[in-house]
Amino acid sequence: MATSWYTLLLLLSVVSECNSIQWSSSALKEDAAVYTCDNSDLTLSWDVSKTTGETIVDVQWFYEGRSQEIIAFLSHGRLVVLPAFSGRVELTANAGLVIHHVTSGEKGNYSVDVNAFDKSGQFVTLRRMASVLIGENLMLHASQMAVAVFSNSTQRWHVALACATFTYPHTPPFTVEWTTPSGQSVSSSQYKEGQFLLLLDNPVSGGSYTCHVPHSSASVACLHGNNADTGSTVVVDDVKSRLTLLEAENQQLKRHLIEANAKIDAVENKTTNRIDTVENITNNRMGNVENQTKNLSLQLTQHLHDEKTKRVSFHATNLKNVKPSPNEVLIPITVLNNQGNGYNSSTGKFTAPYTGTYCFTATMWGYGPSHYIQVNLMVDGKEELFVDTHFGITGDYDAASLQAVVSVRAGQSVWLQVNGDSNQFYSHARSNSFSGFLISYAL
Ligand SMILES: *[C@@H]1O[C@H](CO)[C@@H](O)[C@H](O)[C@H]1NC(C)=O
Ligand SMILES: *[C@@H]1O[C@H](CO)[C@@H](O)[C@H](O)[C@H]1NC(C)=O
Ligand SMILES: *[C@@H]1O[C@H](CO)[C@@H](O)[C@H](O)[C@H]1NC(C)=O
Ligand SMILES: *[C@@H]1O[C@H](CO)[C@@H](O)[C@H](O)[C@H]1NC(C)=O
Ligand SMILES: *[C@@H]1O[C@H](CO)[C@@H](O)[C@H](O)[C@H]1NC(C)=O
Ligand SMILES: *[C@@H]1O[C@H](CO)[C@@H](O)[C@H](O)[C@H]1NC(C)=O
Ligand SMILES: *[C@@H]1O[C@H](CO)[C@@H](O)[C@H](O)[C@H]1NC(C)=O
Repeated sequence: MATSWYTLLLLLSVVSECNSIQWSSSALKEDAAVYTCDNSDLTLSWDVSKTTGETIVDVQWFYEGRSQEIIAFLSHGRLVVLPAFSGRVELTANAGLVIHHVTSGEKGNYSVDVNAFDKSGQFVTLRRMASVLIGENLMLHASQMAVAVFSNSTQRWHVALACATFTYPHTPPFTVEWTTPSGQSVSSSQYKEGQFLLLLDNPVSGGSYTCHVPHSSASVACLHGNNADTGSTVVVDDVKSRLTLLEAENQQLKRHLIEANAKIDAVENKTTNRIDTVENITNNRMGNVENQTKNLSLQLTQHLHDEKTKRVSFHATNLKNVKPSPNEVLIPITVLNNQGNGYNSSTGKFTAPYTGTYCFTATMWGYGPSHYIQVNLMVDGKEELFVDTHFGITGDYDAASLQAVVSVRAGQSVWLQVNGDSNQFYSHARSNSFSGFLISYAL
């Protein structure tokens, strides 16, 4: 019935964050562990501090052990306790409870909701929870641990005695003391996984060791009968204890040996890897040199093969155009030789099939009154050589020749071309010629 009203309050409290009403510093912290004994009082010291103008509307306490159930609520200054807790509940501070005669079945989470108006008139809800642990009659059990324990402070192995409490799931609110065979009283060395441990000094003194709860802790330790007053005793055999220590030291030596072996392995691996790397580098370099040598030798073989098989030479005569226009290419059309097919008699141009050093020659006859011959040897469009002869008024014959050794790249062309507009060549088929040949390939 109160659930929707409660939810509304919770929502309101989320909306209003800026309030001054708050838990007092002495109140139980959120999720605090609270210890008590079976059939004793459970004190949940929740307390809220507020300033003038702030009012607490109501307070509700819940037990969440089985399912959420209301223990009590405070409204208009009146405390109403529900039947399950009837006659056992008292108010403490403004939001705390004391529950009398709790039983071990009532352990679990307890919580409180405080609903209030803060200074600005906002409705707020404060909520806290505590985890309650209820100790039954304490039962102690002392034993000698089968394996030795290494101590960080002494850096040595120790025979350990354990005193189990069987009641507290968390670190108990008290400690356990030990009485040694010589009657000395010593505190436990540490608490670990439900047991108080005592690390014995080396060499181990044999005899009876008893663990017990000191009287100062009697109330919190829930000492009601059983052996809690007298304690629990274990008899330590010093020879067996030495064996336990020897075994632990032996195990440690073994671990060290394994670690040392692993380190040696790692160093060996690194060394092997480095040797591998060096070998690889050496192999790669030698491989490279070998490859380069092979490559050079391949290129040389190819070159020699070219020298033998790919010969280039041409010889052409019989000018097609004996009276060429200015800048016309001279075209000898009778091809006497064209090894390698570099010369084209349709264009008069020789195109180099290979890059290399070539020799070109041309012999020209000029004829006719008031004419001349002016011939360029063109290599890739550029004038390489030039000859010029002029004849007299009566007409005459004259010869001119060109000869060049030039580097030509594969694909470049070489040809003869005239200058001026008054060229006239002698028309005899064998009087003009253009020839060339490859001297050597470029590598
Ligand atoms: C108590 O509350 C804690 C934290 O909210 C939770 O982990 C735990 O399970 C609860 N215990 C019980 C018995 O409900
Ligand atoms: C001992 O030292 C180790 C390593 O430094 C550490 O992991 C361990 O928690 C320490 N034990 C104690 C009981 O202090
Ligand atoms: C060393 O090398 C071997 C083989 O390569 C490998 O099996 C082993 O795990 C390595 N050891 C370490 C410590 O790196
Ligand atoms: C050596 O070279 C081989 C092949 O190039 C490679 O697979 C291997 O990883 C290399 N080894 C090292 C140690 O560099
Ligand atoms: C050498 O040449 C071979 C074949 O071309 C190639 O597979 C190899 O990787 C080369 N070696 C080096 C070291 O360059
Ligand atoms: C040989 O060398 C030439 C020029 O350096 C290069 O282009 C070619 O790829 C090389 N051949 C081989 C097989 O390495
Ligand atoms: C010669 O040149 C002409 C005109 O550019 C061309 O059509 C012909 O194919 C060439 N002949 C050869 C054998 O390259």
